[in-house]
Amino acid sequence: MKHIIVIGAQWGDEGKGKIVDFLSTEIDAVVRYQGGANAGHTIFIKGKKFVLHLIPSGIVREGVLCIIGNGVVLDPFAFFEELEILTTNGVNYNDRIFILPNAHLVLPFHKIFDRLSEDKNQKIGTTGKGIGPAYADKYSRLGIRVIDIFNDDYIKDQLNVNIKIKNTLLNNFYNDSEIVIEDVFNQIMKIRDKLRSFIIDDATFVSNLIATNKRILFEGAQGSLLDVDFGTYPFVTSSNPTIGGVLTGSGVSLKDIKDSEVIGVVKAYSTRVGEGPFPTEIKNDLGEYLRSKGNEYGATTGRPRRCGWLDLVALMYSKQINGFSSLAITKLDVLSGLNKINVCIDYELDGNELNYFPVETFTLSKVVPIYKEFDGWEESIQGIRNFEKLPQNAKNYLHFIEDFLKIKIKIISTGFERDDSIIL
Ligand code: IMP
Repeated sequence: MKHIIVIGAQWGDEGKGKIVDFLSTEIDAVVRYQGGANAGHTIFIKGKKFVLHLIPSGIVREGVLCIIGNGVVLDPFAFFEELEILTTNGVNYNDRIFILPNAHLVLPFHKIFDRLSEDKNQKIGTTGKGIGPAYADKYSRLGIRVIDIFNDDYIKDQLNVNIKIKNTLLNNFYNDSEIVIEDVFNQIMKIRDKLRSFIIDDATFVSNLIATNKRILFEGAQGSLLDVDFGTYPFVTSSNPTIGGVLTGSGVSLKDIKDSEVIGVVKAYSTRVGEGPFPTEIKNDLGEYLRSKGNEYGATTGRPRRCGWLDLVALMYSKQINGFSSLAITKLDVLSGLNKINVCIDYELDGNELNYFPVETFTLSKVVPIYKEFDGWEESIQGIRNFEKLPQNAKNYLHFIEDFLKIKIKIISTGFERDDSIIL
């Protein structure tokens, strides 16, 4: 059985939520394998907008199981808020949401450290959701996993060490008020009974689903260029949105997923939120035009996204890291009405062609994109569901992407509604 892996190929906000929702008719379960409430997956159903941060986008499809993988850092308060939104909108999630036992918690003090770090250390432009500090605790072996919250002694031991270290930092470096261990303990007590029914005891739950012939969709959050290993470090998130995250973040084996369809989701242009190099950024009115037409404001923070041309050098890198087997192109409709459209096909550094995507931030911030110019198309293509009905110049643009990257485009999204899509 072919499972599906959906990965953002750029800096996040590629429109993965819609693609996952669209594909969810064909699958039994959606697994989120990394990230946390920093993600904002927007889906529209009959004009109604849903923004999901933690719960996999398959939840609006009846009968689809939704699993929060161990690679996710789970903010329980954000999780409960999301459940409430689902209830208000009539989405029945009973017996459909599962959290793997070894997922780590994001607690309110992680958000405090996220903010302090942004104010006082290197500014990354984080979402402020406590993601980096929670992953730092996980890898320092000071974190608390969802399965640990029923063991009072363990929680106290972990907090005793963790919060003591944090208070030393607060006193001596950040000059901020101390965290009270008992307060953190009480926060955990407040959520633990409510969380119990969602927690699965067996970390091999997803692998077992596969063994019983269930078809799984693995949903990545953020994007490949924000990956902590392969992204534009240090301007990255603290997890692995790239393919490796699927294995470490959901407890499946390579054998389980080796024949999967790996879909790279690519916005027809580029965007980025927060700090960090962005070679094809458009810093004039045209950038503002794309932002406004594409409604490029963060689904989680509302921040304006930086906008730019499509970058095929970055996408080639992303394709290699992830081994995409096909692409889904989103927001093609936003490009309608542009006289000319540029696509970056190479970088120049100090007068020389570079031919690859440098992970060294200083180098990447100095490269000059080399563009190929395309004629645009005037007419609206919003809602077109048949490739043949696209204007010839839009087809030329898509064919060039396929030829350059040597990869087939299988889905084209032409609007925000679930069915505004072309399937090839
Ligand atoms: P963090 O993940 O909140 O620590 O933020 C680190 C970087 O990743 C910042 O540049 C954020 O703007 C970016 N980021 C995190 N989540 C998303 C997302 O869902 N979409 C786009 N950018 C994101």
